[in-house]
Amino acid sequence: MQNLDQIALEAAAAFAATDDPDALEQVKARFLGKNGRITEQLKGMAKLPPEERKSVGATINQAKEAIEAALNARREAIRRLALERRLGEEYLDVTLPGRRESRGGLHPVTRTLERIEALFGSIGFEVADGPEIESDFQNFTALNTPEDHPARSMHDTFYLLDENGQVAEDILLRTHTSPIQVRYMQAHVAKYAHLETMPEIRIIAPGRVYRVDSDATHSPMFHQVEGLWIGENVNFADLKGVVADFLRRFFESDDLQVRFRPSFFPFTEPSAEIDVAFISGPLKGRWLEIAGCGMVHPNVLRHVGIDPEKYIGFAFGMGPDRLTMLRYGVNDLRLFFDGDLRFLRQFI
Ligand code: FA5
Ligand code: MG
Repeated sequence: MQNLDQIALEAAAAFAATDDPDALEQVKARFLGKNGRITEQLKGMAKLPPEERKSVGATINQAKEAIEAALNARREAIRRLALERRLGEEYLDVTLPGRRESRGGLHPVTRTLERIEALFGSIGFEVADGPEIESDFQNFTALNTPEDHPARSMHDTFYLLDENGQVAEDILLRTHTSPIQVRYMQAHVAKYAHLETMPEIRIIAPGRVYRVDSDATHSPMFHQVEGLWIGENVNFADLKGVVADFLRRFFESDDLQVRFRPSFFPFTEPSAEIDVAFISGPLKGRWLEIAGCGMVHPNVLRHVGIDPEKYIGFAFGMGPDRLTMLRYGVNDLRLFFDGDLRFLRQFI
């Protein structure tokens, strides 16, 4: 009888010498197949005296199990090798789960802003811009709201800290877009100083503004769109006409309910606030203030070097977040800024 340990060693060496799965199965047949060497050993047992068969049989089975274990280990090693070779060669691993293309969309407030720009653009308003960090002077004083004026408390202001961590009372996050009026008028006056009569000013100025405010119709960061039309003969009826016409086109409704409610701003006289009624959603029929407006105060014009005896005009400051609420019938404005995709996806 051949040495069984010897056969098992030979089998292990033969398995290790091949790295092809089909060749491995051939090698297996040489040891475990019908005429394989282990099978021959088992057949040879018939010639043994019965009392030896049991122990010889057990030894042969041990060798057989050792060979099977070596075979399985080699099968697994060959499989791993093949996978590694493929991963090294193939740039694209098609076995990984796919990455889906997700569809993007514009934020509903961005859509509103684009719509406002397009509608005002169609009646000759240009778009102006200004900084979100403003001086106290531009945000209040230049707008006829001197220090200690009670109207300052109409806005709960975020002030910035200086390098010592102290509140810098002269720098703030703008509380409205109205300081852009001041900046634009100053630049316009300088640009046309050589002319006897300056061209009309007709701008809108969209942007982010900030106030210490939070409830269903107030967010600490929100948007405003400032409007300004200054010429030699612009009156309150023009203001009403421009705003009402804009709102009807914005909401695509000729019988939209709009009302002008007398109000106060230091930088306009007379002043009004504009309300619109919800046309859909849970708040249908309820009024919501969407803008403040009025005829630009002579002091503001004087301040930027425009003669209030010669020029006159109107301004408004509209809340596009509120317009978005009304348009889509949303009852809490803060939802627009929570960044919850389940909410925002509805508007794609
Ligand atoms: C003003 O800010 C004035 N500057 C508007 C103005 C401009 C008047 C030019 C006259 C001439 P008011 O504080 O009312 O006004 O704000 C204007 C609009 O901004 C409001 O009608 C509302 O639509 C929106 N708004 C105000 N506070 C918030 C807030 N916290 N969140 C969302 N929208 C707001
Ligand atoms: Mg108001």
